[in-house]
Amino acid sequence: MFLERVLCRNFRNFDEIIIDLNKNLNIFLGQNGQGKTNFLEAIYLMATTNSHRSSISSELIKWEEEESLVQLLLKRREGKMKLAMRLDNSGRKIEINDNQLSKVSELLGYLNAVLFSPEDLKLVKEGPAHRREFIDLEISQVSRYYGHLLNKYDHILKQRNNLLKSIRENRNNTSQEMLSVWDQQLATIGSKIILKRLEVIDKLKILARLSQRKITAGREELEIEYEISLNNFSKNLGEAELRNLFLDNLVSKRDQEIKRGYTVIGPHRDDLILKVNEMDLRKYGSQGQQRTAALALKLAELEFMKSETGEYPVLLLDDVFSELDNLRRKALLNVIADKIQTIITATDGENLTGIKNNSYNIYQVEKGKIKRVS
Ligand SMILES: Nc1ncnc2c1ncn2[C@@H]1O[C@H](COP(=O)(O)OP(=O)(O)OP(=O)(O)O)[C@@H](O)[C@H]1O
Ligand SMILES: [Mg+2]
Repeated sequence: MFLERVLCRNFRNFDEIIIDLNKNLNIFLGQNGQGKTNFLEAIYLMATTNSHRSSISSELIKWEEEESLVQLLLKRREGKMKLAMRLDNSGRKIEINDNQLSKVSELLGYLNAVLFSPEDLKLVKEGPAHRREFIDLEISQVSRYYGHLLNKYDHILKQRNNLLKSIRENRNNTSQEMLSVWDQQLATIGSKIILKRLEVIDKLKILARLSQRKITAGREELEIEYEISLNNFSKNLGEAELRNLFLDNLVSKRDQEIKRGYTVIGPHRDDLILKVNEMDLRKYGSQGQQRTAALALKLAELEFMKSETGEYPVLLLDDVFSELDNLRRKALLNVIADKIQTIITATDGENLTGIKNNSYNIYQVEKGKIKRVS
C-alpha cells in the first residue's frame, strides 16, 4: 500500500500543507523544530488512531485554532480510499470516503504503518510499557477486533481500580460483590488479549530472529518470550482454561489488590523478554546489541504486517539514520529498496548517501511549510 497524498490543516505547526508522495522513497530534510516529526505524526495518527507523542488531542491542533484536519489518499490493492480525521475540543471524528464513522477505532486497519524513531531504541532498554505498546499497536493495526478489546479492557481496568480504592477506604459496603462482577469481565477480555498476543509473538519471534541474523551476519540469535503476570500459567491453555486461571489469580491476589488499590495482574502488567545468545538483553546487552534488536523488531513488524494483510505497510523513519552505524543502515536500506513506501526525515542528507532507490522525492521542511525540491 502507499500514500498518494497527505493533507494537514491546522495540525501542529502547519497552516495547510498538501503533499504528493512518491510511491517509493520520500526524504524530508529540515533543521530542528521545523515540522518533520509533525508530518510523520499526522500519518501515524491515521494508522493507529493515536499520536506516538501525545494522548491529548488538543495538543495536535495548531495553537489558537479550533479544529484540525488530517486527510490521506491511500492506494491499497483493493483500490483507492480517502481517510480523514477531524480533531476539535470535543474529540476526534473519522471519515472514510466521506462517510462519517461512529467510532474512532473503526479507522484501524485501513492504513498500516511502521514508525521507527530514536525513541524506539528504548524498546529494549526501558520499562515494560514500551514493549506492551509495541505489541499492542502492531496487533491492533491488523485486527480491529483487538483494538476494541484493548479499549474495553482499559475501561474495565479503570472501573475496577476505582472500586478497589473505594473498598480500601471503606466507602462502599456492596463493593465486594461488585468486585466479582468486574473480575469476570476483566478475566474474559484479559484472556482474549493474552491469547492474541501469544499467537502474534509466535510469528514475530521467527521473523525477528531472521532479521537479527541478517544484521549480525549470523552471530546473534534473538529470542522473544512473553512474560505473563499470572501464576501457574502453562502454554497451550484454551480460552476457557485461561479465563479460569485468571479468575483464580484474582482471588488469590484480592487482599493485596485491596491494600494497594489497583489491579496487580493481567495483560497490562505483562512484558516481553528479549534475549540474545541466551543473555537477557535488557540487563546485560551492550548498546549496540540493544539497537540491533530494536531494529530487528521493527523489520519483523514490517514482515508481520505483510503476512497478515498481503501488503507491506508504509514505513516512517524519523531521524534514525544518524543513530545507526553503517552495517545497520545497510540492513535497513536493503529491506526497503523499492518495495516499501518509505518516508525518511533527517536534518541533512549526509547520512542518506547509501540510498540507491531508483525513484525518490526530496522535500524541504521549514517553519511549518513543506516544498518539494527534487
Ligand atoms: N499545537 C501546535 N501548534 C503550533 N506549533 C506546534 C504545536 N505543537 C508543536 N508545535 C511546534 O512544532 C515544532 C516541532 O516540530 P517537529 O517536532 O516536527 O520538529 P522536527 O522538524 O522534527 O525537529 P527535530 O529535528 O528537532 O526533531 C516546534 O517548533 C513546536 O513549537
Ligand atoms: Mg523530529
